[in-house]
Amino acid sequence: MAGGLGVAVVGLGRIGRLHARLLRCCVRGARLVAVVDAVEELARSVAGELGVDWHRDLGEALRRGDVDAVVIATPTFLHRDMIIRSLEAGKHVFVEKPMTLTVEEALDVVRASEKSGLVVQVGYMRRFDPAFSRAKKEIDSGRIGEPISYVTIVRDPEPPPGWAADPSKSGGMFLDMLSHDFDMARWLLSDEVTEVYVAAASRVSEEAARLGDVDVANIVFKTGEGAMGIIHAARRCPYGYDLRVEVYGSKGVVAVGDKIDNSFHLGVESGVVYGGIAWFEKRFYDAYVAELEHFASAVKEGGKPLVGPVDGYRVVEIARALWESHRSGRPVRIEYRV
Ligand SMILES: NC(=O)c1ccc[n+]([C@@H]2O[C@H](COP(=O)([O-])OP(=O)(O)OC[C@H]3O[C@@H](n4cnc5c(N)ncnc54)[C@H](O)[C@@H]3O)[C@@H](O)[C@H]2O)c1
Repeated sequence: MAGGLGVAVVGLGRIGRLHARLLRCCVRGARLVAVVDAVEELARSVAGELGVDWHRDLGEALRRGDVDAVVIATPTFLHRDMIIRSLEAGKHVFVEKPMTLTVEEALDVVRASEKSGLVVQVGYMRRFDPAFSRAKKEIDSGRIGEPISYVTIVRDPEPPPGWAADPSKSGGMFLDMLSHDFDMARWLLSDEVTEVYVAAASRVSEEAARLGDVDVANIVFKTGEGAMGIIHAARRCPYGYDLRVEVYGSKGVVAVGDKIDNSFHLGVESGVVYGGIAWFEKRFYDAYVAELEHFASAVKEGGKPLVGPVDGYRVVEIARALWESHRSGRPVRIEYRV
């Protein structure tokens, strides 16, 4: 591992290209050695830009002696098999969120990762964002007392493109988008989500309605320790990305999000009364660097990553329960299998 962890990035779309570029320039303890994409032209052009080797197939990268770890940034429905193949080849794995499409697949990954003894980290990068990390420290220190209510507003600028619009490939809004929010709720509250109730519909995207996804959701949840949560989410927002989180405790409130003041806010296509913020690539740029540095250091130190396979599994289980609640119109209790 001279010169840092040798990494291959697999899948060079929206997020994979960003990981590859960051690994080339900015991630301490890791170095990009190869990129992989099923689309040869894309693999070639990213490899040319970054001055590394390219492959069309994961298997070719796994055979390389200079690859210690893979970053898997392919469509979600491919994650399970790619993770397991990589672990069987003796490579550490950083996999983009969500870890897998289904609960069964997630349990397969938990078992494979335990058996391998290798590091598996899941890409919930918000945990590495300075504001969310600070909120976590304040809550853990007891400064706001006992957490009572968790409130999130999350709106994406637009629904995801291509395969990610199809819930049979991406898990739909509850998994593809909201697993980030449930990962954050679990982490900030140091607690497990035990019951969910959903009111959701397809209201802002014709494609979501056609493919059987929802695009606006209002969720109520409860945790094992008795905290209560509300998440309002939308897949289309005319003024850009909007993410706000508040934890209300017995002695205070901690809030993350840049629109927390007492002024009136109106967001329509023609403009907003405050500056909207660019989507995930910009909002979480530093967090993407920090999560990869954390991964490299977990491999080096032989430690457990901050977001491991059991975390990855639990939010897949929550998304399954959300779909069940949406279909049945009832609250759903969650029993975790690991
Ligand atoms: N953490 C985040 O903020 C974040 C943001 C966006 C996407 N994601 C996640 O990252 C993953 C990828 O999403 P995306 O939006 O970048 O997708 P994308 O469609 O933009 O890119 C996927 C890439 O994988 C390639 N690919 C497909 N099959 C392949 C195979 N068998 N072998 C090699 N390459 C293959 C495609 O050609 C494409 O270039 C998803 O799981 C998604 O949920 C995470």
